[in-house]
Amino acid sequence: MSQIVYLNGQFLPIAEAKISVLDRGFIFGDGVYEVIPVYSRHPFRLAEHLRRLQASLESIRLPNPYPDTEWTTLITELIEKNATEDQSLYLHITRGVAPRDHAFPANTPVTVFMMSNPLITSTRAQCETGVAAISHADNRWGRCDIKAIALLPNVLLRQMAVDVGAVETVLFRDGFLTEGAASNIFAVKKGVLLAPPKDHHMLAGITYDLILELAEEHKIPVEVRKLTEARVRAADELWITSSTKEILPIIQLDGKPVGKGKPGEAFWQMYNLYQDYKQQVMRHASP
Ligand code: PDD
Repeated sequence: MSQIVYLNGQFLPIAEAKISVLDRGFIFGDGVYEVIPVYSRHPFRLAEHLRRLQASLESIRLPNPYPDTEWTTLITELIEKNATEDQSLYLHITRGVAPRDHAFPANTPVTVFMMSNPLITSTRAQCETGVAAISHADNRWGRCDIKAIALLPNVLLRQMAVDVGAVETVLFRDGFLTEGAASNIFAVKKGVLLAPPKDHHMLAGITYDLILELAEEHKIPVEVRKLTEARVRAADELWITSSTKEILPIIQLDGKPVGKGKPGEAFWQMYNLYQDYKQQVMRHASP
């Protein structure tokens, strides 16, 4: 089964999907995207992803090309046309094709692109070992809540981690934790789950919301508050969360152990809750 993608109303093999070099996504990074994990061919938290997509589109003043029902139909079809049971569905909308000019073009249809790749989540072995992270000043723009396709700062920040054999770069802005280069970050101190509040300096992760919901449901103490760099460095546990990584423990930050230097109790509790939730949702999801 070759990889089938969706482009502007058509499903076609990836090699045949072509866009103009004048697409504003290519020229300006003028667009937004979503990454939706798909388990056993069921898109996970689709309504929430579509809601965040709507918010991103509104923030960049782009009309949503489809109602949610249409998105659902297209996404379902794309999942069916691709081979693996678990997929990572990438959805991308740009301000379309127009002569290069920073200002918005008039009456230009948007470009809609979707592709699906096999979902590669964190492995159980990675969770048992834990991963290393580094930190850096958050030098991105002031609207990190928009899931914008213009990701150059995130690309550079994450590459810094990869260059030193780490998996993520933890970002601090004005002395406070924001998020990771491609993930949200949680801390745990004395059994309390600590999460930075949603604002313009971080992306409101769908996984972030789920972790907080699971914590509330299972009576895990939570504090959503701004976290100073010192608190993060003194945490017993640090976690990375995202749709593709799910939940992953950081055991080393900038070469120093986090807490006891191994995945903590709170991590395993949340890991199990997350895996159980996934199973439940899959069992009850409509076909
Ligand atoms: N990124 N913050 C940033 C900067 C991210 O890029 C992501 C996810 C998240 C977590 O959001 P969610 O839980 O909804 O996946 C937070 C995706 C996976 C990506 O760009 O590939």
